[in-house]
Amino acid sequence: TSDELKALVGRAALAEIPELPGGAVIGVGTGSTVNCFIDALATVKHKVRAAVSSSEASSARLRAHGIAVVEAAEVERLGVYIDGADEIDPRGHMIKGGGAALTREKIVADLADRFVCIADASKRVEVLGRFPLPVEVIGHAAAQIGRRFAALGGTATLRAGVTTDNGHPILDVRGLAITDPAALEAEINQWPGVVCVGIFARHKASVCLLGTPQGVETLRY
Ligand code: A5P
Repeated sequence: TSDELKALVGRAALAEIPELPGGAVIGVGTGSTVNCFIDALATVKHKVRAAVSSSEASSARLRAHGIAVVEAAEVERLGVYIDGADEIDPRGHMIKGGGAALTREKIVADLADRFVCIADASKRVEVLGRFPLPVEVIGHAAAQIGRRFAALGGTATLRAGVTTDNGHPILDVRGLAITDPAALEAEINQWPGVVCVGIFARHKASVCLLGTPQGVETLRY
């Protein structure tokens, strides 16, 4: 099942933690796959001194296991950031934000030397865009940003009942075939009112540990 694959890659990611005297400070993402990683981490707590987390949910889970959580502002660099994805393409570009944590995910990823993506095989795609693209926006700008997506052939809808940890709504954009993720990420980042777009091209994966029925496939980009 996909739960078993998530547990498998969650454990495999332990090997990606840098070996440092006193333990490493690592970045930890958000989602059900990362929850498996956090639970695996609890069995080897000596490997980490502290974690910077991308959501209140992950911070709470880390602390419940007795792992120290520090703010991104307290850290200059992280050796590694470990997170899941909603989709990953053959070059390691990702769509993220299904869990609404995309802005903090990109901020913590930006601190890290390496992005280790952990995912089950269902996340692997040829072209990004079947999964609706999450975009965190300033509420006042949602309608005009929606019209810009329509001009690109996409359909944007506000995610009902969701406000991010930063207090903003999320647009989910359907119908985009994202053949040039880096160019589209750069374009959307220019639109006033966009807080963060869930295309991770500039912050793509360094490696993906993909859980398949045959075992963990390690993809390097
Ligand atoms: C959170 O905002 C997302 O970017 C997650 O990384 C993504 O939704 C993966 O979650 P699962 O591991 O639950 O599939």
